[in-house]
Formats: sequence, structure tokens, C-alpha cells
Amino acid sequence: MAKIAPSILSADFVNLERDIHNIEENGGDWVHVDVMDGSFVPNITIGLPVLRDIRRITNLPLDVHLMIDRPIRYAERFIKAGADWLTIHLEADTPQNTMTCLEMIRAMGCKAGLSLKPGTPVKAAVPYLTKCDMILVMTVEPGFGGQSFMTDMMDKTRRLRKLLDEVNPECLIEVDGGIDTVTQEICKKNGVDVMVTGSAYFKAADRAEFVKIIQG
Ligand code: DX5
Ligand code: ZN
Repeated sequence: MAKIAPSILSADFVNLERDIHNIEENGGDWVHVDVMDGSFVPNITIGLPVLRDIRRITNLPLDVHLMIDRPIRYAERFIKAGADWLTIHLEADTPQNTMTCLEMIRAMGCKAGLSLKPGTPVKAAVPYLTKCDMILVMTVEPGFGGQSFMTDMMDKTRRLRKLLDEVNPECLIEVDGGIDTVTQEICKKNGVDVMVTGSAYFKAADRAEFVKIIQG
């Protein structure tokens, strides 16, 4: 019913290969990779060389979430490094560049995602709805794992689902931030297709069971 994309932001980076293979063994659908530049968000994580190496060790789809300014500068390189899904932030550039970047991602055979920070209204996404394969609704302020889920974002997912059903019904809705066994249930009731989960997945006593609950 829903897909789960464990976020390696909460993995043990010394044992990244082990943790990614463990996502496969536990039945995870995608691997979520958070790229932060210390400018669009106040944190720095991983970049191109790490993505390239992750690509070598897994066949799971790589769901790359770019939290960087002016992603148009880097989109092509992240696709070449192995992204299957590349999500950019609506707030990270001009509307023209955002549009061009989404088109570029698709033209390269990659799935295009557009992410909205909690303060960004649904109406800002309207011009891009037919240019995306996925809309990522942030359910925390981007930048860090382990924050609390913002329930009021569910109004956004519901409204987006309605709009997408009219113009681009294939488009998925993903949520990211504070997803656990309780909040995933709320998301499912509000039109969400893909759940990103970092700390709750990695802390789960039985990760395979956690995956089943989200997918179920
Ligand atoms: C936050 C990142 C998330 C993060 C989620 O900016 O985009 O992907 O890993 O972590 P949790 O599930 O701990 O909120
Ligand atoms: Zn993310």
C-alpha cells in the first residue's frame, strides 16, 4: 500500500554498506539519501562521491533529496552518480530555474521530485504539478533527523492529492520527517504514497517488522 524509503542520515556511516544491505534484507523499497549544503539548510551531509559508492553496492532505487541552493548546478552530476529519483526544493531557486531543472531531470531519464518546506503553500507547487513524478511534503523543517512530525502538513498532502488526481494522477506524494509507526498511519489516511524514515527505522527493535507496518 505504501513504500518505505529509509533515510541513511540515521545510519552508521562507518558501516554504511552493512546498513544499506540491511535495508535490502528487511524489504525496504528505496534508499533515501539526504544531500545538504550548509546554505539551503544549516547542516552538511554527503555528496557525489558517497552517492557513487552507494550505487556500486545496491540495486535498490536511490531516492536523492537535494537540500542545496540552486540545484540546477548539480542535477546532472547527481543523476550520473546514480540517482533514480532526484528531488529538488521549490524554495531553492527562481521559478524559471526550478521548471528547467525538473525538465532536465526527466530528460535524463531520472524521476523528478519537487519538495516543499513546511512554510511553502500548495499553491506555489501548482505550476509544476505536471512536471513532477513525485511531490515531497516536508513534515519537519529540513536539515536534521529526529524532529517531531508536523501533523498540520496533512492538509497539504490531502489538497495536493486532489489537485494531482486532476492533472497528474501517477504522481506520488512522499513525506519526510518524524515518520514512525504512529505518524505513518496518519499519512496513509491523507494520500501519502512514500514514507521516508530515518531515526524510527534505524532505532526499531525489529526493522523488518517496521518495514511491514509501513508497507501494510
Ligand atoms: C531531514 C531529512 C530527512 C531525515 C528524516 O531534513 O530530509 O530525510 O533523515 O529523519 P527522521 O525520520 O529522523 O525525522
Ligand atoms: Zn530527506
